[in-house]
Amino acid sequence: MERILVIGSAGQIGSELVLALRNKFGNVNVFATDIKQPTKEIQDGGPFQILDVLDYKNLLHFLVRNKITQVYNLAAVLSGNAEKIPLQAWDINMKALMNTLEAAQQSDAKKLFWPSSIAVFGPTTPRYKTEQLTVMEPNTVYGISKLAGERWGEYYFNRYGVDIRSVRYPGLISYKTEPGGGTTDYAVEIFFDAIKSGHYDCFVTEDTALPMMFMDDAIENTIRLMDADGKDLSIRSSYNMAGISFTAGELAQAIKQRVPNFTISYKPDFRQAIANSWPASIDDKIAREDWGLKTEFDLEKMTDLMLDKVREKLSV
Ligand code: SER
Repeated sequence: MERILVIGSAGQIGSELVLALRNKFGNVNVFATDIKQPTKEIQDGGPFQILDVLDYKNLLHFLVRNKITQVYNLAAVLSGNAEKIPLQAWDINMKALMNTLEAAQQSDAKKLFWPSSIAVFGPTTPRYKTEQLTVMEPNTVYGISKLAGERWGEYYFNRYGVDIRSVRYPGLISYKTEPGGGTTDYAVEIFFDAIKSGHYDCFVTEDTALPMMFMDDAIENTIRLMDADGKDLSIRSSYNMAGISFTAGELAQAIKQRVPNFTISYKPDFRQAIANSWPASIDDKIAREDWGLKTEFDLEKMTDLMLDKVREKLSV
């Protein structure tokens, strides 16, 4: 029986991934942790404990004491926030990963998921249908830490047999827990502001195109990758994952079709340069071939569901 640790369970991905894992493996076998309190659903549904992944000894003890076999490490400072505290963000992102890699090596928790991101690409990368293997010169702290992390993950796989699996998430769109401090956050904020006030001040320009993915697709594919036979995985750095690509203007249009009074203005800030350095669309054929990556949500389906769920959440 698998016993699973999720680090970062109060975050945007963790708060949904824990629920999916508890469904699959049983509530008592999925240990949620974070340095802050998670949603009530997570706290009430199974084991939760405050745990700081930067504290190596405590992390290792936790793995041994609870006989953990798999770890999902979702702790990270996102791209926008990382630019405000470059050295701290580097330290946190790298140490969080290195501690889990090292603890995996030293314990029975040999299977590890760690998310990478489209941020590993940079301004010199071909922007459309970006391939798995291409020019990678990220120019953000977050992107540099993710690219370095990918290299370390592959190193631990080759050298120590740590069964690390990873995807380069596109921007993730969800309603349960909002992201914090990322560049793709506008694609979530826009839904909340559309329902709350009918207006959104967007921090990137109308023609900014980025790859995005609805959270349900992200969670399903994350678990699919973790379930895959290790022999089928040709990539141990991180797999490209395309999702759906659209501009901020196209997203606004999809919302306007459903919320006719919705208005938007574009006020690009420092995150515009980050968005401009990332691909507009991604080629993920290797993930499709290796472990059956597939997605369900297009822009229309995602917009319908987001508006319903955000309305429900805000009870309007
Ligand atoms: N969505 C993240 C961000 O914007 C990138 O992985 O920082």
